[in-house]
Amino acid sequence: MTKLWGGRFEGETDPFFAEFNASFRFDKRLLKADLRACRVQAAALGRAGVIAVEESDNICRGIDRLLELAEDAHWPDRAEYASAEDVHSFIESRLVELVGSAGYKLHTGRSRNDQVATATRLFLRDEIDALLSLLRETQTALIDLAERFPYDPLPGYTHLQKAQPILFSHFLLAYFHMLERDAERFADARRRTNVLPLGSGALAGSSFPVDREWMARQLGFDRVTRNSLDAVSDRDYILDFINAAATTMMHLSRLAEDLIVYSTQEFGFIILGDAIATGSSLMPQKKNPDSLELIRGKAARVFGHSAAMYALVKGLPLAYNKDLQEDKEALFDTIDTVAGSLRVTTIVLGNIEFNRERARRAAATDYTNATDLADYLVRRGLEFRRAHEIAGRIVVYAISRKLELTEISLDEYRAFSELFSDDLFESISLEQSLATKSSIGGTAPDRVRQELEAAREITEHTK
Ligand code: ARG
Repeated sequence: MTKLWGGRFEGETDPFFAEFNASFRFDKRLLKADLRACRVQAAALGRAGVIAVEESDNICRGIDRLLELAEDAHWPDRAEYASAEDVHSFIESRLVELVGSAGYKLHTGRSRNDQVATATRLFLRDEIDALLSLLRETQTALIDLAERFPYDPLPGYTHLQKAQPILFSHFLLAYFHMLERDAERFADARRRTNVLPLGSGALAGSSFPVDREWMARQLGFDRVTRNSLDAVSDRDYILDFINAAATTMMHLSRLAEDLIVYSTQEFGFIILGDAIATGSSLMPQKKNPDSLELIRGKAARVFGHSAAMYALVKGLPLAYNKDLQEDKEALFDTIDTVAGSLRVTTIVLGNIEFNRERARRAAATDYTNATDLADYLVRRGLEFRRAHEIAGRIVVYAISRKLELTEISLDEYRAFSELFSDDLFESISLEQSLATKSSIGGTAPDRVRQELEAAREITEHTK
């Protein structure tokens, strides 16, 4: 494989260093994006009169052929290409094989520095679009599950101690909203990715009159970069993307944790389908939530990639430095990890059985209605702090008698406060407890119904 930079060199590259320097084994993933940008570069050179129109057409035909070959994902893996330095030199070599020395004109006024930034941005833009649809699918799976059990209660927790009853659908919609913010973050990362650096040259700009605005339009970029030094050394768009992905992984990890906890024998609110669980090689009775544990674990990889990217770019002098080649594996692994985790989350959500009776019983026991008891006294005119105190004492009394608040007699209640009368029991029922949480965003069934519909609207709209 001839080098793109051999002229200045007399000695040979050390073979181990050549291997260390090479990025083709991973940056071949940019092949199609790079070819698309190369085609526009060739056309722009022709339009500007830098190369003859026939040469430009000839190069474009060659690139079209390479794009066809690239349809076979295994094409770059052939043994004969194993010594390619990177995807850019690979493309030039293949192009010259096809169109002859005209292929050597493609790089006029261009550097691999603006080339790699262009290919990476183009590639990432499309990957973000694909991730956005995976995100929508996960949101849809959350809504689908919520609609199977729209009005079923679940205990809500703070400090992982039972707090107040909520609806299972309300719990699921919490994750819908997290993912909705993630979609916004990805869209924002896309906006700042979709800018064309091509025409920045190695660092100083191009001395050939290529029309950068035209190239941007051809490739669907929103605008062109305005400073060539920044353009070739900026990796903020990768960081923006990885950080958006890290937040998504943090959300998926929390959902995974909740579902792992809820599927334990101790909680038993959900049952994981066989399709998403695994067994133990030793203990015959086991059914383990490996799918969810892996999602929880994989979040760590993406957080690591974020830290690695900051460390990579921090302290780099302007402009391009080869350190930046290290951005790609972090980027690719982030894409694969978040895509895989979204997919598996969607599958898990489709393979969950909800134990309605058990969740209802759990929601109605252990004094989850103590706040409703205090609220009752408030409605009878007592200050909240005093009401809280009395309800607390009643809870202690109930615990000592192994009774729920609904099992204490009115006479016993009246010993704590004259304000209690027989409408108390309705007020502290599970149904009433839920129905009264009717503030916007509350868990009252009517509110949740509205929010479910709004959520469905969002996913239908953005498909
Ligand atoms: N493989 C390189 C990268 O990923 C391409 C740019 C190389 N530029 C250079 N001046 N050596 O960053």
